[in-house]
Amino acid sequence: MTVCDIVKMGNPVLTHVADPVADPKAPEIRDLVEDMRDSLAAVGGVGLAAPQIGVPLRVILFEVPGDRLTQEDGEESVGIQETVLINPELSFPTNEIVNGWEGCLSVPGWRGLVPRYSELFYSGYDLQGNKIECQATGFHARVVQHEYDHLIGRLYPTRMTDLGNLVYESEWKNFIEDQQSRKTESQENDNGH
Ligand code: NI
Repeated sequence: MTVCDIVKMGNPVLTHVADPVADPKAPEIRDLVEDMRDSLAAVGGVGLAAPQIGVPLRVILFEVPGDRLTQEDGEESVGIQETVLINPELSFPTNEIVNGWEGCLSVPGWRGLVPRYSELFYSGYDLQGNKIECQATGFHARVVQHEYDHLIGRLYPTRMTDLGNLVYESEWKNFIEDQQSRKTESQENDNGH
């Protein structure tokens, strides 16, 4: 078991385009994924990309427990089982964009409201070299876009359209409550006039 340090925003490996994996079945890729799994488990989180442990290869890993996915999407869900995606490719069947809150292990302590496509198709390879093809919506689609961005040198703050929605995790609940009360207030004013 190897728990690696997670590199933080500002580290050059997070700003470069990662290299494709030549052979998904290679033992060193299996070892890399084990390190990613151990490192993710040690800190807790729903996804990790190889550059986040300093390895500039196109490998991502994600897993979302049912209760988390249910909470994020607002509908009962069994969750997403652990998915290893090597050399992933994305395509978008819709132009619909939705805002949602994200955090990142490479940007610890912060949360931001990030616009993402509401739906996507993704493909890639697993550790046995089998092709994976999947359609995703909601939080599943968001996680895949976030992790894929790590392979093209992007962190979520660079996707944000309003940095007024970048907040400390410790203030996030206050922030949301205040936004909701302002919204309610303005609706009441709209109704009153
Ligand atoms: Ni991240």
